[in-house]
Amino acid sequence: MSFKAPSFHATVLTLFPEMFPGPLGLSLAGRALEQGIWSLETRDIRASATDRHRTVDDHPAGGGAGMVLKPDVLAAAIDAAPSEGPRLLMSPRGQPLTQSLVRELGAGPGCLIVCARFEGVDERVIGKRGLREVSIGDYVLSGGEPAAIVLLDAVVRLLPGVMGSKASGDEESFEGGLLEHPHYTKPNLWEGIEIPGVLLSGDHKAIARWKQERREALTRARRPDLWQAHMPGKI
Ligand code: ADE
Repeated sequence: MSFKAPSFHATVLTLFPEMFPGPLGLSLAGRALEQGIWSLETRDIRASATDRHRTVDDHPAGGGAGMVLKPDVLAAAIDAAPSEGPRLLMSPRGQPLTQSLVRELGAGPGCLIVCARFEGVDERVIGKRGLREVSIGDYVLSGGEPAAIVLLDAVVRLLPGVMGSKASGDEESFEGGLLEHPHYTKPNLWEGIEIPGVLLSGDHKAIARWKQERREALTRARRPDLWQAHMPGKI
C-alpha cells in the first residue's frame, strides 16, 4: 500500500486547543481529514509560557483596556512549530480573506495560524516572525479561533480530491469574480413557483447563457464592488 502525504498541513496556535477540529472534523473537511488529504496540528500557546503561573498575557504598555499576548511566549510557540507555508495571524486589522487568498493558500504546502485572544498580540512579534494578518470581515470576534476555522474550511474544500465534482467549484460564488446563479431542484412547481423553463430545456448553451446572465445581474445588484472589479468602467 502506498502512503500519500497530506497535500496541506495546518498548524494552529491557540489558547483554546479544544476548539479544534470543531466543525473541521465534520462533513467535507472532516472526511478529508480522515482520508489524510490534509492534516491539522493544534498547539497550546500556554505550553510555551515559562513562569510558574504559565502567564501568557500582560497589561498594555501606555494603559488601556484588556490584555496583550506576550511576545516572548508567542515567539517561542511559533519557533517550536513546523514551518510549512506562510504564518498567519487572524485579526480584524488584517488583509480581507477573499477567494483569491484562499486559492493562494490552498496551492501551498500549508500554513501556520496564530489565534489571538485579549486585545491582541505585542506588535513586535508580528514583524519579527513575519506574521501576515488576515481578517474574515469587518466585525470583532472574541478570538481568532472561529476565523481560523472559517479560513481552513474555505481552503480545504479546494484541495484536490475533497470536492466531488470540480465543476461545482468553478461555477460558485467569487470564482470568476461573480456571485453564484440561483439553483433549483424538483418539484418543478413548488408553492406556485416554477423552475425557470430554460433549465428544463436540455439546451446546454442556453442554460450556460442563463446562468451567466443571472450571475452578472445578481453581482451588479448586490455587490457593486465586485461588479466594478469584474467589469471596470462598465458600472
Ligand atoms: N479576531 C477577531 N476578530 C476577527 C476577524 N474579524 N477576523 C479575523 N480574526 C479576528
